[in-house]
Amino acid sequence: MKTVCFGLQWGDEGKGKVTTYLSKDYDYIVRYSGGSNAGHTVEYGDFKLIHHLIPSFDIRKDIKGYISNGVVVDLEVLNKEIEELRKMGFDISQRLWISKLAHVVLPIHKILDEKMELSRGERAVGTTKRGIGPAYADRVHRIGIRLADFENIDELREKLLTITALYKELYSIEWEEYDEVIEQYEDMSSLIVSPLEIKTELENSNVIFEGTQGVLLDIDMGTYPYVTGTFCNTTGVESGLGYVTKLDKRIGIFKAYVTRVGEGPFPTELFGDEGEMLRKAGKEYGATTGRPRRCGWLDLPLLKYAIEISGCDEMIMTKADVLSGMEKVKVGVRYDIDGKKVEMPSELSNIGRSQVEYVEFNGWKNLEDKEFDHFTKFIESETGVKITYISTGARVDQITKM
Ligand code: IMO
Ligand code: MG
Repeated sequence: MKTVCFGLQWGDEGKGKVTTYLSKDYDYIVRYSGGSNAGHTVEYGDFKLIHHLIPSFDIRKDIKGYISNGVVVDLEVLNKEIEELRKMGFDISQRLWISKLAHVVLPIHKILDEKMELSRGERAVGTTKRGIGPAYADRVHRIGIRLADFENIDELREKLLTITALYKELYSIEWEEYDEVIEQYEDMSSLIVSPLEIKTELENSNVIFEGTQGVLLDIDMGTYPYVTGTFCNTTGVESGLGYVTKLDKRIGIFKAYVTRVGEGPFPTELFGDEGEMLRKAGKEYGATTGRPRRCGWLDLPLLKYAIEISGCDEMIMTKADVLSGMEKVKVGVRYDIDGKKVEMPSELSNIGRSQVEYVEFNGWKNLEDKEFDHFTKFIESETGVKITYISTGARVDQITKM
């Protein structure tokens, strides 16, 4: 069985918790996209983990993880995550593998990320400043450093000299602490494999691919330029692995409302007290940067778009309990863009200009309430996709099969 579990919105849908829960039925969890910009929070009850690079496998169970070449790896963050787990009594050295073709996020990438954001001024993307965009850009510039490059330290130093000379000339950024990254590499070098070394094992295993961010942040299909640097749509699974694989199931995760961190259009956004009320109720602060998340009502045109491009065949709804106790709950059902009614946008460049038409639901006291049933049935009938689980609360076991 090959499954992908991915975000249908702008990230932070609760993928980490859901993937951890589902992981019990799989042998491997594979990350195919993103880097340490991801922040996947998993609460076990007596302890809590926030994964940035390590796949969200259930740490208590015998499940293995693989970080494929679609991911950009910040060695410092990775080592810290491994070390923190070790301190908590979880040794994952025999459970985690990393593709040697994965590119490394260098300190200069983080400096450039920050610098580019500053120079964009009003047009800043609101990145996580984790160096993600610059690391992916250097991969395409063909000056990036891959884990495989550390196998020959003399050649690596020459490559580092080339990249730092370019950064100095192009961006006036200076950096020469090469030994630091070499040491960081040495700490994790036993985890590195070539993609073909692990291919057969993955092919013979039950694998769940863990998405990062959400479809609306996909580099091509998202709200460009307010997106991340990677293919976080399900299309990223194969490019991340580097070879073809057949997926049996595409499980899209969505929140019962919508959040977004960083800049960019957000048609159903709530401002002032209303937005603050959702932010407080849902504890909507970034797991990576701590930034307050922008909050708004569920947006069906965008959900339909995300389903259309991802091939989503079932959905899991998270955080509906956050809306419990509200008098009214709204859902955006249609856009009016320049006088044209739109049920599902065919592209996202002009959604910032849309007026949203809403349907209003009576609130529900709890999730057994028939008003909540009404809400979920409405989403299923509008999208044509079944909701298979409802996730409530932060704990891994707080999830109900429908
Ligand atoms: P998870 O996996 C929410 C957003 C940033 C910014 C844009 C580009 O936890 O859902 P980047 O640093 O990637 O170049 O920033 O993407 N972003 C996320 N938003 N959840 C994430 O990850 C995100 N990763 C990046 O806020 O708007
Ligand atoms: Mg997050």
